[in-house]
Amino acid sequence: MKVLVNDQLVERDEAKVDIEDRGYQFGDGVYEVVRLYNGQFFTYEEHIDRLYASAAKIELTIPYSKDKLRELLESLVKENNIQTGNVYLQVSRGIQMPRNHVIPDAFPLEGILTASASNVPRNEGQFVAGGKAITLEDVRWLRCDIKSISLLGNILAKNKAHQAGALEAILHRGDLVTECSASNVSIIKNGELWTHGADNLILNGITRQVINQVASEAGITVHEADFTVQDLETADEIFISSTTLEVTPIINLNGQTVGDGKRGPVTARIHELFEKEIERRCGEGALITAK
Ligand code: PDD
Repeated sequence: MKVLVNDQLVERDEAKVDIEDRGYQFGDGVYEVVRLYNGQFFTYEEHIDRLYASAAKIELTIPYSKDKLRELLESLVKENNIQTGNVYLQVSRGIQMPRNHVIPDAFPLEGILTASASNVPRNEGQFVAGGKAITLEDVRWLRCDIKSISLLGNILAKNKAHQAGALEAILHRGDLVTECSASNVSIIKNGELWTHGADNLILNGITRQVINQVASEAGITVHEADFTVQDLETADEIFISSTTLEVTPIINLNGQTVGDGKRGPVTARIHELFEKEIERRCGEGALITAK
């Protein structure tokens, strides 16, 4: 398996990150995950735009132009023969010695790009069967709109869910539901979709944006607005969404059955619309080869 370190493709076990890298020392960096179907990137521009936006929010310069970055990521995909899979890329602020919290002036520090790619099939069983979730207080920082590599709040929440035998932790700040540890959450009430607005309290998921668009176009009312833990507990349907989870139903919340304990009709319809969008962007048959 080859990985990218800056503009070089190297064997994974030969790739080196300096221990004085600010990404390693401080979690000072940003990242993205882009999915491929049929060897084609899905929503590539949206992810890369978000990467540059995250970087700008922390005053980090991505070391490559968008064109050069695409060329590098395409070479990574080709080298590893990725058909249906994920590309993870991180950009750290780079090497600084001696260690200092203060961000140095740009020169001579250069952002460092690392990226890896692997084939990961679609989890079709789970898309239909769904999974369990628990609720947890959202104790993360107030800039969840930045796709930061500092993920302690997220991983501790995800791990609590895992320990409880659940797929995800749905987070809330007081009464208001925000998102999940590694995905967004939406509820269906009376046939209408509710999901938190795109502000600093959530990562504005690309999957969520595609879902909201295709759902609205299909006549489903979408509210990007506050909803409460009580709304979540009494929802007709709940689903979570991310690049890797697509549209995954939550059929049990804190040990209580959601709806009739099966994927609901609106969630199923939304996933069908989402799949059409994958085929529209990645080509006919993208989902067939994605098994
Ligand atoms: N996670 N919210 C959080 C906190 C996330 O980490 C993610 C994605 C999302 C959904 O974003 P998108 O639809 O753009 O994937 C929302 C990815 C999959 C990850 O970190 O592995």
